[in-house]
Amino acid sequence: MKTIIEILTEKVSEAFNACGYSAELGIVKASDRPDLCQFQCNGAFSAAKLYKKVPTAIANDVVKPLLSDGIFKKISVEGAGFINIDVSNAFLLKYLDEILLDPYLGIKQSEKHETIFLDYGGPNAAKPLHVGHMRSAIIGESLKRLAEATGRKTISDVHLGDWGLPMGLVMAELEDRNNCGENMSLNSGEWDTIYALASQKSKENQQFKQKAQEITDKLQKGDKRYLSIWKKIMEISIANIKANYKVLGVSFDLWNGESDAEKYIPELIEILESRNLLKESLGAKVVDVSLPYDNAPIPPIIIKKSNGSNIYATTDLATILVRHKFYNPNEIWYIVDNRQSLYFTQVFRCARKASLVPAETILLHLCFGTMNGSDGKPYKTRDGGVMKLSDFYDTVYNTVYERVSSSTFSEYSDKQEISQKIAIAAIKFGDLINHRAKDYIFDIEKFTASEGKTGTFLLYTIARINSILKKVDNDDANLTAHEVYSDTEKELILILALSNRVFELAYNEKAPNLVCENAYKIASAFSKFYSENHIINETKYCKKATWLYLCRATKTLLQKHLDILGIESVELM
Ligand code: ARG
Repeated sequence: MKTIIEILTEKVSEAFNACGYSAELGIVKASDRPDLCQFQCNGAFSAAKLYKKVPTAIANDVVKPLLSDGIFKKISVEGAGFINIDVSNAFLLKYLDEILLDPYLGIKQSEKHETIFLDYGGPNAAKPLHVGHMRSAIIGESLKRLAEATGRKTISDVHLGDWGLPMGLVMAELEDRNNCGENMSLNSGEWDTIYALASQKSKENQQFKQKAQEITDKLQKGDKRYLSIWKKIMEISIANIKANYKVLGVSFDLWNGESDAEKYIPELIEILESRNLLKESLGAKVVDVSLPYDNAPIPPIIIKKSNGSNIYATTDLATILVRHKFYNPNEIWYIVDNRQSLYFTQVFRCARKASLVPAETILLHLCFGTMNGSDGKPYKTRDGGVMKLSDFYDTVYNTVYERVSSSTFSEYSDKQEISQKIAIAAIKFGDLINHRAKDYIFDIEKFTASEGKTGTFLLYTIARINSILKKVDNDDANLTAHEVYSDTEKELILILALSNRVFELAYNEKAPNLVCENAYKIASAFSKFYSENHIINETKYCKKATWLYLCRATKTLLQKHLDILGIESVELM
């Protein structure tokens, strides 16, 4: 389905063409001054330079044949040659109807049969999830849904950090506790603390550190005993990680980890060697990834350390090999924090040099900033410790639950379920409304407020619509919009009719924040429309039917925004 902007651009381009000017000048965009008009075309200014005429003369030429076209309510030349456009209400209503009848709600579907491979989550399997892991999961989930909504196939992989020193540390500690035989057990309390204890111990005790390193090394070389302990730890860890992601509403197709790349490392090394890319440097094997135009030096990427062991980069490169071999995606996206930017530059350059993927396969590091506390530093517990993700969620949930219990929230609803949904909406919307590359401050009051740019406000809007629809008990599937009765509803209709384009833009920019902004715009416009019009008590049939139709349209489209953000709505509030 074409967007309104495309339909208008086609019309105005044809007019430019018919008047003897280049059709490319007819680009229409949403107006910079919504108080003056809905859309504008500034092509007459570029045309003036090309054709050596005054812009107003060109604009007047172009506008003339369009005046009689019913799609326009107004098309006029303003100022020095701006073409200002308002579309007719009939066109807008018809267009909105088409969106609602379209199986994709008017969202353009990619025709290229693309597969996008998303690497997000990336928790370290040796530690419990902490708040630092949250952004990758929330942003990645939303990007995945955005890719699907725009007609791409996706494959998501959690890419567990399950093969490095942290695992060795946990195993060394278990060995010290004599708890790594057949009957090895770890209760949740032990699981929560064991890594931190082992890590601290390795800082104080050189021997312990060495032991952990040796264990890591043996594990990577396939030592049977350590492999079986590792498997047990992985079971505990994955169950824990899955439980956390379930609460967040995040899921993955693949639960692969760094360990799964191990058996492809020899193939990787062979490729690097056959292309003469591996060089010796201080005993280590490295690949030079610098380029002549680099402003800052890009250091070589280490493939094998001087002791012969593989590292993070080795597994990432082997993983690229695997992903290409088994899934052949058009694009691989890594949703990993800003601090790994240099690292991914090195990995991608090395992958290109070694042709691990075809030249047309896109490798993208979609970086993100940090969630900070009110002090502007990464969010911590009160005493400055690392905050577990489940503790963070509980804090938000408890605040919401208290409010839900003490307010006038619908008595029919399950307060726990509502609180869970509001808490997740607050956390996710509060995160995604910021451009992913930026840091933000988590403020529990602001994030859970029922007004303003919050997830709660959006849930509230949908619940309000549900309550209207329930009250009128109007199940008439044939509800249609008859005409536009007020300015507030016109504004709402326009925003709804322009929504489909937002998803395409958000996809192109990999920016879920654009979806958040638009969802807020819809909810605000609905709120104005609702407070100005007495929908339930309206006595005129056509008016009431139009308004109910708009309620449904708002709900459907707002729901689509929430789905893409990974936020579940509530029936009533
Ligand atoms: N486990 C890594 C970390 O905690 C993140 C993994 C990101 N994905 C990747 N393919 N490197 O830093």
